[in-house]
Amino acid sequence: MTLTDSLLTGLECRRCCTTLPADRLVGSCPTCGHTLFATYDLDRARELRVWERFPERDRTLWRYRELLPVQQEENVVTLGEGGTPAIRLVELPELPGVELWLKDDGEMPTGSFKARGMAVAVSRATELGAASLFVPSAGNAGLALAAYGARAGRPVRIYLPEDTPPEIPRICRMYGAEVVAVPGTIREAGETARAREKGSGGFDLSTLREPYRVEGKKTMGYEIFERFRDSRMPDAVVYPTGGGTGLVGMYKAFQELQRMGQLEHFPRLISVQMEGCAPVVRALDAGEAAVRPWEHPHTVAPGLLVPAPFSSERILEALRETHGSGVTVADRDLPEAMERLGKLHGVSAAPEGAATYAALPALFREGRIRAGERILLYNTGSGALWDTAALRRQVEA
Ligand SMILES: Cc1ncc(COP(=O)(O)O)c(C=O)c1O
Ligand SMILES: [Zn+2]
Repeated sequence: MTLTDSLLTGLECRRCCTTLPADRLVGSCPTCGHTLFATYDLDRARELRVWERFPERDRTLWRYRELLPVQQEENVVTLGEGGTPAIRLVELPELPGVELWLKDDGEMPTGSFKARGMAVAVSRATELGAASLFVPSAGNAGLALAAYGARAGRPVRIYLPEDTPPEIPRICRMYGAEVVAVPGTIREAGETARAREKGSGGFDLSTLREPYRVEGKKTMGYEIFERFRDSRMPDAVVYPTGGGTGLVGMYKAFQELQRMGQLEHFPRLISVQMEGCAPVVRALDAGEAAVRPWEHPHTVAPGLLVPAPFSSERILEALRETHGSGVTVADRDLPEAMERLGKLHGVSAAPEGAATYAALPALFREGRIRAGERILLYNTGSGALWDTAALRRQVEA
Protein backbone atom coordinates (compact mmCIF):
# COMPACT_ATOMS: atom_id res chain seq x y z
CA MET A 1 0.00 0.00 0.00
CA THR A 2 1.44 3.37 -1.01
CA LEU A 3 -0.08 6.56 0.35
CA THR A 4 -0.62 9.54 -1.93
CA ASP A 5 0.12 12.00 0.92
CA SER A 6 -3.27 13.56 0.34
CA LEU A 7 -3.95 16.36 2.84
CA LEU A 8 -7.72 15.80 2.72
CA THR A 9 -9.30 16.63 6.07
CA GLY A 10 -13.04 16.29 5.49
CA LEU A 11 -16.11 17.60 3.70
CA GLU A 12 -18.03 20.81 4.23
CA CYS A 13 -21.26 22.31 3.01
CA ARG A 14 -20.79 25.94 2.10
CA ARG A 15 -24.49 26.68 2.48
CA CYS A 16 -25.32 25.35 5.97
CA CYS A 17 -21.74 24.86 7.25
CA THR A 18 -22.26 21.16 8.09
CA THR A 19 -18.93 19.34 8.21
CA LEU A 20 -18.47 15.61 7.74
CA PRO A 21 -15.60 13.16 7.78
CA ALA A 22 -14.54 12.19 4.27
CA ASP A 23 -14.06 8.51 5.00
CA ARG A 24 -17.31 7.22 3.52
CA LEU A 25 -19.22 7.48 0.30
CA VAL A 26 -21.60 10.47 0.33
CA GLY A 27 -23.43 12.51 -2.27
CA SER A 28 -24.77 15.92 -1.27
CA CYS A 29 -25.13 17.56 2.17
CA PRO A 30 -27.23 15.37 4.48
CA THR A 31 -28.60 18.49 6.22
CA CYS A 32 -29.59 20.77 3.34
CA GLY A 33 -28.95 18.86 0.11
CA HIS A 34 -26.39 21.35 -1.21
CA THR A 35 -22.97 20.43 -2.65
CA LEU A 36 -20.30 19.09 -0.30
CA PHE A 37 -16.75 20.29 -0.89
CA ALA A 38 -13.51 18.61 0.11
CA THR A 39 -11.29 20.43 2.60
CA TYR A 40 -7.52 20.07 2.98
CA ASP A 41 -4.92 20.98 5.55
CA LEU A 42 -3.69 23.99 3.62
CA ASP A 43 -1.46 25.22 6.47
CA ARG A 44 0.42 21.96 6.24
CA ALA A 45 0.49 22.27 2.43
CA ARG A 46 2.03 25.70 2.91
CA GLU A 47 4.63 24.38 5.33
CA LEU A 48 5.49 21.57 2.97
CA ARG A 49 5.62 23.99 0.00
CA VAL A 50 3.77 21.39 -2.05
CA TRP A 51 3.77 23.61 -5.16
CA GLU A 52 7.53 23.15 -5.41
CA ARG A 53 7.02 19.40 -5.86
CA PHE A 54 4.57 19.64 -8.76
CA PRO A 55 7.04 20.40 -11.56
CA GLU A 56 9.15 17.33 -10.72
CA ARG A 57 6.28 14.96 -11.38
CA ASP A 58 4.60 13.53 -14.50
CA ARG A 59 2.48 15.95 -16.44
CA THR A 60 -0.86 14.53 -15.35
CA LEU A 61 -3.31 15.99 -12.88
CA TRP A 62 -2.06 13.52 -10.26
CA ARG A 63 0.96 15.77 -9.76
CA TYR A 64 -1.35 17.75 -7.43
CA ARG A 65 -1.98 14.64 -5.33
CA GLU A 66 -1.54 16.30 -1.91
CA LEU A 67 -4.52 18.46 -2.83
CA LEU A 68 -6.64 15.64 -4.28
CA PRO A 69 -8.83 13.29 -2.23
CA VAL A 70 -7.51 9.83 -3.17
CA GLN A 71 -5.61 8.25 -0.27
CA GLN A 72 -3.88 5.26 -1.81
CA GLU A 73 -1.98 5.22 -5.03
CA GLU A 74 -3.37 1.79 -5.92
CA ASN A 75 -6.82 3.37 -6.14
CA VAL A 76 -5.86 5.97 -8.74
CA VAL A 77 -7.76 5.27 -11.95
CA THR A 78 -5.91 7.07 -14.72
CA LEU A 79 -5.74 7.37 -18.48
CA GLY A 80 -2.97 9.98 -18.30
CA GLU A 81 -5.35 12.96 -17.98
CA GLY A 82 -4.18 16.53 -17.40
CA GLY A 83 -1.19 18.58 -18.43
CA THR A 84 -2.93 19.96 -21.52
CA PRO A 85 -1.25 22.72 -23.53
CA ALA A 86 -1.99 26.44 -23.25
CA ILE A 87 -1.18 27.99 -26.61
CA ARG A 88 -0.86 31.57 -27.77
CA LEU A 89 -3.46 32.44 -30.40
CA VAL A 90 -2.81 34.66 -33.38
CA GLU A 91 -3.61 38.30 -32.58
CA LEU A 92 -6.99 39.25 -33.99
CA PRO A 93 -7.44 42.58 -35.81
CA GLU A 94 -10.81 43.06 -34.14
CA LEU A 95 -9.16 42.78 -30.69
CA PRO A 96 -6.13 45.05 -31.01
CA GLY A 97 -3.59 44.70 -28.21
CA VAL A 98 -5.33 41.75 -26.53
CA GLU A 99 -2.98 38.86 -25.80
CA LEU A 100 -5.06 35.76 -26.46
CA TRP A 101 -4.33 32.28 -25.17
CA LEU A 102 -6.26 29.04 -25.35
CA LYS A 103 -6.02 26.06 -23.02
CA ASP A 104 -6.89 22.98 -24.97
CA ASP A 105 -8.71 20.22 -23.09
CA GLY A 106 -9.74 18.77 -26.43
CA GLU A 107 -6.44 16.92 -25.92
CA MET A 108 -7.76 14.90 -22.98
CA PRO A 109 -8.66 11.20 -22.82
CA THR A 110 -12.23 10.82 -24.20
CA GLY A 111 -11.85 14.25 -25.85
CA SER A 112 -12.97 16.65 -23.15
CA PHE A 113 -12.23 18.25 -19.79
CA LYS A 114 -14.82 15.90 -18.27
CA ALA A 115 -11.99 13.37 -17.93
CA ARG A 116 -10.52 15.50 -15.11
CA GLY A 117 -13.58 15.26 -12.90
CA MET A 118 -14.32 11.64 -13.68
CA ALA A 119 -10.74 10.43 -13.15
CA VAL A 120 -10.75 11.83 -9.62
CA ALA A 121 -14.38 11.02 -8.76
CA VAL A 122 -14.22 7.43 -10.04
CA SER A 123 -10.92 6.86 -8.21
CA ARG A 124 -12.34 8.15 -4.96
CA ALA A 125 -15.76 6.46 -5.34
CA THR A 126 -14.11 3.08 -5.91
CA GLU A 127 -11.68 3.72 -3.06
CA LEU A 128 -14.72 4.20 -0.82
CA GLY A 129 -16.40 1.06 -2.12
CA ALA A 130 -18.92 2.15 -4.78
CA ALA A 131 -20.24 -0.97 -6.50
CA SER A 132 -21.63 0.68 -9.65
CA LEU A 133 -21.73 4.18 -11.05
CA PHE A 134 -24.20 6.30 -13.00
CA VAL A 135 -24.53 9.80 -14.42
CA PRO A 136 -26.97 11.87 -16.45
CA SER A 137 -24.99 13.53 -19.22
CA ALA A 138 -25.19 15.72 -22.30
CA GLY A 139 -22.51 13.46 -23.78
CA ASN A 140 -18.99 14.19 -22.65
CA ALA A 141 -19.42 13.34 -18.97
CA GLY A 142 -20.99 10.06 -20.08
CA LEU A 143 -18.05 9.24 -22.34
CA ALA A 144 -15.62 10.01 -19.54
CA LEU A 145 -17.49 7.99 -16.90
CA ALA A 146 -17.83 5.06 -19.32
CA ALA A 147 -14.05 5.00 -19.88
CA TYR A 148 -12.97 5.51 -16.25
CA GLY A 149 -15.65 3.14 -14.95
CA ALA A 150 -14.35 0.49 -17.36
CA ARG A 151 -10.83 1.10 -16.16
CA ALA A 152 -12.01 0.77 -12.53
CA GLY A 153 -13.86 -2.46 -13.34
CA ARG A 154 -17.23 -1.07 -12.20
CA PRO A 155 -20.58 -1.32 -14.02
CA VAL A 156 -21.66 2.06 -15.44
CA ARG A 157 -25.05 3.41 -16.50
CA ILE A 158 -25.30 6.61 -18.58
CA TYR A 159 -28.57 8.55 -18.92
CA LEU A 160 -28.52 10.63 -22.12
CA PRO A 161 -31.08 13.02 -23.61
CA GLU A 162 -32.82 11.15 -26.44
CA ASP A 163 -31.52 13.45 -29.17
CA THR A 164 -27.83 13.05 -28.25
CA PRO A 165 -25.82 12.40 -31.45
CA PRO A 166 -25.59 8.60 -32.03
CA GLU A 167 -21.76 8.52 -31.79
CA ILE A 168 -22.00 9.17 -28.05
CA PRO A 169 -24.09 6.14 -27.01
CA ARG A 170 -22.12 4.01 -29.46
CA ILE A 171 -18.78 4.95 -27.86
CA CYS A 172 -20.21 4.62 -24.32
CA ARG A 173 -21.29 1.07 -25.18
CA MET A 174 -17.88 0.34 -26.61
CA TYR A 175 -16.50 1.03 -23.11
CA GLY A 176 -19.04 -1.48 -21.80
CA ALA A 177 -21.50 1.03 -20.29
CA GLU A 178 -25.26 0.61 -20.31
CA VAL A 179 -26.99 3.57 -22.00
CA VAL A 180 -30.50 4.83 -21.22
CA ALA A 181 -32.08 7.41 -23.60
CA VAL A 182 -34.44 9.91 -21.91
CA PRO A 183 -36.77 12.44 -23.65
CA GLY A 184 -35.92 16.10 -22.86
CA THR A 185 -32.74 17.78 -21.66
CA ILE A 186 -30.15 16.74 -19.07
CA ARG A 187 -32.58 17.96 -16.41
CA GLU A 188 -35.08 15.21 -17.32
CA ALA A 189 -32.24 12.71 -17.77
CA GLY A 190 -31.17 13.50 -14.19
CA GLU A 191 -34.69 13.11 -12.81
CA THR A 192 -35.12 9.76 -14.58
CA ALA A 193 -31.69 8.57 -13.48
CA ARG A 194 -32.30 9.36 -9.82
CA ALA A 195 -35.77 7.78 -9.87
CA ARG A 196 -34.62 4.61 -11.64
CA GLU A 197 -31.49 4.18 -9.57
CA LYS A 198 -33.25 4.39 -6.18
CA GLY A 199 -32.30 1.24 -4.32
CA SER A 200 -29.94 0.07 -7.10
CA GLY A 201 -26.83 0.71 -5.01
CA GLY A 202 -25.47 2.79 -7.90
CA PHE A 203 -23.44 5.88 -6.96
CA ASP A 204 -24.66 9.17 -8.48
CA LEU A 205 -21.90 11.16 -10.19
CA SER A 206 -24.18 14.04 -11.31
CA THR A 207 -22.56 17.47 -11.52
CA LEU A 208 -22.03 18.96 -8.02
CA ARG A 209 -24.10 16.21 -6.35
CA GLU A 210 -21.02 14.45 -5.05
CA PRO A 211 -17.83 16.12 -3.73
CA TYR A 212 -15.05 14.87 -5.97
CA ARG A 213 -15.67 15.71 -9.63
CA VAL A 214 -15.04 19.33 -8.73
CA GLU A 215 -11.70 18.27 -7.22
CA GLY A 216 -10.66 16.94 -10.63
CA LYS A 217 -11.93 20.08 -12.33
CA LYS A 218 -10.01 22.30 -9.98
CA THR A 219 -6.82 21.03 -11.58
CA MET A 220 -7.68 23.36 -14.48
CA GLY A 221 -6.95 26.20 -12.06
CA TYR A 222 -3.73 24.59 -10.81
CA GLU A 223 -2.53 24.03 -14.38
CA ILE A 224 -3.27 27.64 -15.32
CA PHE A 225 -1.32 28.75 -12.24
CA GLU A 226 1.65 26.53 -13.04
CA ARG A 227 1.73 27.55 -16.69
CA PHE A 228 1.56 31.30 -16.09
CA ARG A 229 2.89 31.97 -12.59
CA ASP A 230 6.40 32.79 -13.76
CA SER A 231 5.29 35.32 -16.34
CA ARG A 232 1.89 36.71 -15.42
CA MET A 233 -1.43 35.08 -14.63
CA PRO A 234 -4.20 35.70 -17.19
CA ASP A 235 -6.33 38.75 -16.41
CA ALA A 236 -9.42 36.73 -17.31
CA VAL A 237 -10.42 33.16 -18.08
CA VAL A 238 -13.32 32.80 -20.50
CA TYR A 239 -15.22 29.61 -19.81
CA PRO A 240 -18.29 27.94 -21.43
CA THR A 241 -20.76 27.29 -18.61
CA GLY A 242 -23.27 24.48 -18.39
CA GLY A 243 -23.43 22.77 -15.00
CA GLY A 244 -20.76 25.16 -13.74
CA THR A 245 -18.31 22.66 -12.19
CA GLY A 246 -15.44 24.09 -14.20
CA LEU A 247 -15.94 27.59 -12.80
CA VAL A 248 -16.50 26.36 -9.25
CA GLY A 249 -13.43 24.13 -9.54
CA MET A 250 -11.11 26.84 -10.87
CA TYR A 251 -12.29 29.26 -8.19
CA LYS A 252 -11.59 26.62 -5.51
CA ALA A 253 -8.07 26.13 -6.88
CA PHE A 254 -7.43 29.88 -6.77
CA GLN A 255 -8.73 30.05 -3.19
CA GLU A 256 -6.47 27.18 -2.13
CA LEU A 257 -3.48 28.79 -3.83
CA GLN A 258 -4.26 32.05 -2.07
CA ARG A 259 -4.46 30.26 1.30
CA MET A 260 -1.04 28.76 0.57
CA GLY A 261 0.27 32.26 -0.12
CA GLN A 262 0.86 31.61 -3.81
CA LEU A 263 -1.74 33.73 -5.56
CA GLU A 264 -2.70 37.31 -4.88
CA HIS A 265 -4.99 38.36 -7.70
CA PHE A 266 -7.48 35.95 -9.19
CA PRO A 267 -8.16 36.02 -12.91
CA ARG A 268 -11.67 37.31 -13.61
CA LEU A 269 -13.87 34.36 -14.46
CA ILE A 270 -16.08 35.12 -17.46
CA SER A 271 -19.01 32.80 -18.13
CA VAL A 272 -20.18 32.20 -21.69
CA GLN A 273 -23.65 30.78 -22.21
CA MET A 274 -25.95 30.42 -25.20
CA GLU A 275 -28.78 32.86 -26.00
CA GLY A 276 -31.25 29.95 -25.86
CA CYS A 277 -30.14 28.78 -22.40
CA ALA A 278 -28.43 31.35 -20.19
CA PRO A 279 -29.69 30.94 -16.61
CA VAL A 280 -26.33 31.80 -15.02
CA VAL A 281 -25.73 34.96 -17.06
CA ARG A 282 -29.31 36.10 -16.42
CA ALA A 283 -29.01 35.60 -12.65
CA LEU A 284 -25.61 37.31 -12.59
CA ASP A 285 -26.87 40.34 -14.48
CA ALA A 286 -30.00 40.55 -12.31
CA GLY A 287 -27.95 40.37 -9.09
CA GLU A 288 -29.76 37.22 -7.96
CA ALA A 289 -28.20 34.76 -5.49
CA ALA A 290 -29.34 31.64 -7.38
CA VAL A 291 -30.60 30.86 -10.88
CA ARG A 292 -34.18 30.40 -11.93
CA PRO A 293 -34.70 27.53 -14.41
CA TRP A 294 -34.53 28.70 -18.05
CA GLU A 295 -37.83 28.33 -19.89
CA HIS A 296 -37.82 26.45 -23.23
CA PRO A 297 -34.06 25.89 -23.33
CA HIS A 298 -32.47 25.27 -26.71
CA THR A 299 -28.96 25.33 -28.19
CA VAL A 300 -26.87 23.15 -30.49
CA ALA A 301 -24.06 23.10 -27.90
CA PRO A 302 -25.13 20.08 -25.81
CA GLY A 303 -22.87 20.75 -22.82
CA LEU A 304 -24.42 24.21 -22.42
CA LEU A 305 -28.01 22.98 -22.47
CA VAL A 306 -28.37 23.03 -18.69
CA PRO A 307 -31.52 24.98 -17.81
CA ALA A 308 -31.23 24.69 -14.01
CA PRO A 309 -27.69 24.08 -12.77
CA PHE A 310 -27.44 22.58 -9.29
CA SER A 311 -25.71 24.65 -6.57
CA SER A 312 -25.89 27.73 -8.72
CA GLU A 313 -25.03 29.91 -5.68
CA ARG A 314 -21.52 28.55 -5.92
CA ILE A 315 -21.27 29.30 -9.64
CA LEU A 316 -22.46 32.87 -9.15
CA GLU A 317 -20.10 33.30 -6.20
CA ALA A 318 -17.13 32.26 -8.36
CA LEU A 319 -18.09 34.86 -10.97
CA ARG A 320 -18.81 37.69 -8.51
CA GLU A 321 -15.88 37.13 -6.18
CA THR A 322 -13.44 37.23 -9.10
CA HIS A 323 -15.10 40.42 -10.48
CA GLY A 324 -16.03 38.36 -13.52
CA SER A 325 -19.01 38.65 -15.80
CA GLY A 326 -21.27 36.78 -18.16
CA VAL A 327 -22.04 37.01 -21.85
CA THR A 328 -24.26 35.13 -24.29
CA VAL A 329 -23.61 34.05 -27.87
CA ALA A 330 -25.95 32.80 -30.59
CA ASP A 331 -26.01 29.28 -32.03
CA ARG A 332 -25.48 30.75 -35.50
CA ASP A 333 -22.04 32.07 -34.44
CA LEU A 334 -20.70 28.65 -33.47
CA PRO A 335 -19.89 27.02 -36.85
CA GLU A 336 -17.81 30.03 -37.89
CA ALA A 337 -16.02 30.16 -34.53
CA MET A 338 -15.16 26.45 -34.87
CA GLU A 339 -13.89 26.97 -38.41
CA ARG A 340 -11.83 30.01 -37.50
CA LEU A 341 -10.26 28.21 -34.56
CA GLY A 342 -9.31 25.44 -36.99
CA LYS A 343 -8.20 27.48 -39.96
CA LEU A 344 -6.56 30.44 -38.25
CA HIS A 345 -5.18 28.87 -35.08
CA GLY A 346 -4.91 25.10 -35.73
CA VAL A 347 -7.29 24.26 -32.88
CA SER A 348 -10.04 21.66 -33.05
CA ALA A 349 -12.84 22.81 -30.75
CA ALA A 350 -16.26 21.50 -29.77
CA PRO A 351 -19.12 24.03 -30.04
CA GLU A 352 -18.94 24.71 -26.29
CA GLY A 353 -15.24 25.63 -26.44
CA ALA A 354 -15.77 27.62 -29.63
CA ALA A 355 -18.46 29.64 -27.82
CA THR A 356 -15.67 31.35 -25.85
CA TYR A 357 -14.08 32.47 -29.11
CA ALA A 358 -17.43 33.60 -30.50
CA ALA A 359 -17.90 35.73 -27.37
CA LEU A 360 -14.72 37.77 -27.88
CA PRO A 361 -16.09 40.64 -30.03
CA ALA A 362 -18.92 41.33 -27.57
CA LEU A 363 -16.57 41.10 -24.58
CA PHE A 364 -14.20 43.59 -26.19
CA ARG A 365 -16.96 45.96 -27.30
CA GLU A 366 -18.40 46.01 -23.79
CA GLY A 367 -14.99 46.65 -22.22
CA ARG A 368 -14.96 43.35 -20.32
CA ILE A 369 -11.63 42.49 -21.91
CA ARG A 370 -9.22 45.22 -22.85
CA ALA A 371 -6.08 46.01 -24.79
CA GLY A 372 -2.97 45.10 -22.80
CA GLU A 373 -4.68 42.18 -21.08
CA ARG A 374 -3.81 38.52 -21.21
CA ILE A 375 -6.98 36.53 -21.86
CA LEU A 376 -7.25 32.75 -21.65
CA LEU A 377 -10.03 30.95 -23.51
CA TYR A 378 -10.84 27.52 -22.15
CA ASN A 379 -11.51 24.98 -24.89
CA THR A 380 -13.33 22.26 -23.00
CA GLY A 381 -13.62 19.70 -25.78
CA SER A 382 -12.35 18.44 -29.10
CA GLY A 383 -14.13 19.12 -32.37
CA ALA A 384 -13.46 15.57 -33.57
CA LEU A 385 -17.06 14.39 -33.23
CA TRP A 386 -18.43 17.46 -35.01
CA ASP A 387 -19.29 18.32 -38.62
CA THR A 388 -19.41 22.11 -38.97
CA ALA A 389 -21.29 21.94 -42.30
CA ALA A 390 -24.08 19.90 -40.68
CA LEU A 391 -24.06 22.22 -37.66
CA ARG A 392 -24.40 25.24 -39.97
CA ARG A 393 -27.43 23.69 -41.69
CA GLN A 394 -28.92 23.01 -38.27
CA VAL A 395 -28.48 26.57 -36.95
CA GLU A 396 -29.72 28.13 -40.17
CA ALA A 397 -32.80 25.90 -40.41
C1 LIG B 1 -17.47 20.36 -24.05
C2 LIG B 1 -18.16 20.91 -22.84
N1 LIG B 1 -17.91 22.16 -22.46
C3 LIG B 1 -18.50 22.71 -21.38
C4 LIG B 1 -19.42 22.01 -20.62
C5 LIG B 1 -20.04 22.67 -19.42
O1 LIG B 1 -19.28 22.39 -18.32
P1 LIG B 1 -19.49 22.84 -16.82
O2 LIG B 1 -20.34 21.79 -16.19
O3 LIG B 1 -18.14 22.87 -16.20
O4 LIG B 1 -20.14 24.18 -16.82
C6 LIG B 1 -19.72 20.69 -20.98
C7 LIG B 1 -20.67 19.91 -20.17
O5 LIG B 1 -21.26 18.95 -20.60
C8 LIG B 1 -19.07 20.12 -22.11
O6 LIG B 1 -19.32 18.85 -22.48
ZN1 LIG C 1 -25.74 21.81 3.88
